[in-house]
Amino acid sequence: MHKDIKEIIFSEEQLIKRSKEIGEQITKDFEGEEVLLVGILRGSILFFADVMRNIDLDCKIDFMGVKSYEGTVSKELKITKDLSEDIEGKNVILVEDILDTGKTLAYIKRELAKRNPKKISICTLLDKKIEKSEEVKAQYVGFEVDNVFVVGYGLDYSQKYRNLPYIGVIKEEAI
Ligand code: IMP
Ligand code: MG
Repeated sequence: MHKDIKEIIFSEEQLIKRSKEIGEQITKDFEGEEVLLVGILRGSILFFADVMRNIDLDCKIDFMGVKSYEGTVSKELKITKDLSEDIEGKNVILVEDILDTGKTLAYIKRELAKRNPKKISICTLLDKKIEKSEEVKAQYVGFEVDNVFVVGYGLDYSQKYRNLPYIGVIKEEAI
């Protein structure tokens, strides 16, 4: 285990198993259709890859980057990397690392809805147990987590720890 991690909450085996189940569920839900997986950079990439390899459908992929600025009144978001594909008429599945307040996904969903996709679904590895708006209810959730800061398997703290194959909580002295 990494020296800055105090506790592993999801092991590599659990993460791989759950990603496989989600890929299989998406395969069932979209039977006979094509899907476009949209990974939200950068935290989703390991989860994205593990779900993707378990989807047995015609499948395309694309990525989107957003950045949040802490404004004086509220958090403002901006697209830093837009999609390369046109999404009109497509089944878009947004793949995210973690749903916290839901602001990031609500913003992305609103922006993408303007481009007339057939459907936008949300697939998140983790869902923090806090109140969210109806708009960002995820159809596919890997695991629910308590309101603690977690890292690993794509998730970072100051851009570190994304490479850990498990998800854990960092020690106070590492923050
Ligand atoms: P939201 O807009 O509040 O839902 O925030 C979601 C974003 O905050 C995620 O995409 C993550 O990048 C980041 N985030 C929230 N909680 C955590 C955490 O526990 N670990 C790492 N990143 C987090
Ligand atoms: Mg993120």
